[in-house]
Amino acid sequence: MISFTVNGKQRQVDVPAEMPLLWVIRESLNLTGTKYGCGIAVCGACTVHVDGTAVRSCVTPASAVAGRKVTTIEGLSEKGDHPVQRAWTEVDVPQCGYCQSGQIMSAAALLARKPTPTDADIDDGMSGNICRCGTYQRIRAAVHRAAAIKKAGAS
Ligand code: FES
Ligand code: FES
Repeated sequence: MISFTVNGKQRQVDVPAEMPLLWVIRESLNLTGTKYGCGIAVCGACTVHVDGTAVRSCVTPASAVAGRKVTTIEGLSEKGDHPVQRAWTEVDVPQCGYCQSGQIMSAAALLARKPTPTDADIDDGMSGNICRCGTYQRIRAAVHRAAAIKKAGAS
């Protein structure tokens, strides 16, 4: 039995210790906003936060999150109004949408460590998230917009 916090709620799951966190999230907890892309930590579709840090849940064993705080796209904000989510809507970033929950989780973690990122910071921080639809220009614009929204909210 593994206990951890998911989106603010304490959860217990009876899964093998080595089961990828992605499957625990999707199959045991039915939180399907987090996507499977490659399964080998190269696409970023499965990105979630563990204690505030962006991780690839497809290569994170369930045992690694025991006692820790996991946040998925469903728990990033109560009403879908995290600055990154607001900016994503304003800039109309998604095309097919498949990669986007991972993009948003990576962007939120990036802004938490760098509140005013440069283009280079964004390219570096988001480089592990692949978008087959090529929405990179809109992602970059939306991260800048999210930084501005966050700053305005903080002042
Ligand atoms: S599914 Fe995890 S990085 Fe691609
Ligand atoms: S929006 Fe389609 S893969 Fe990124």
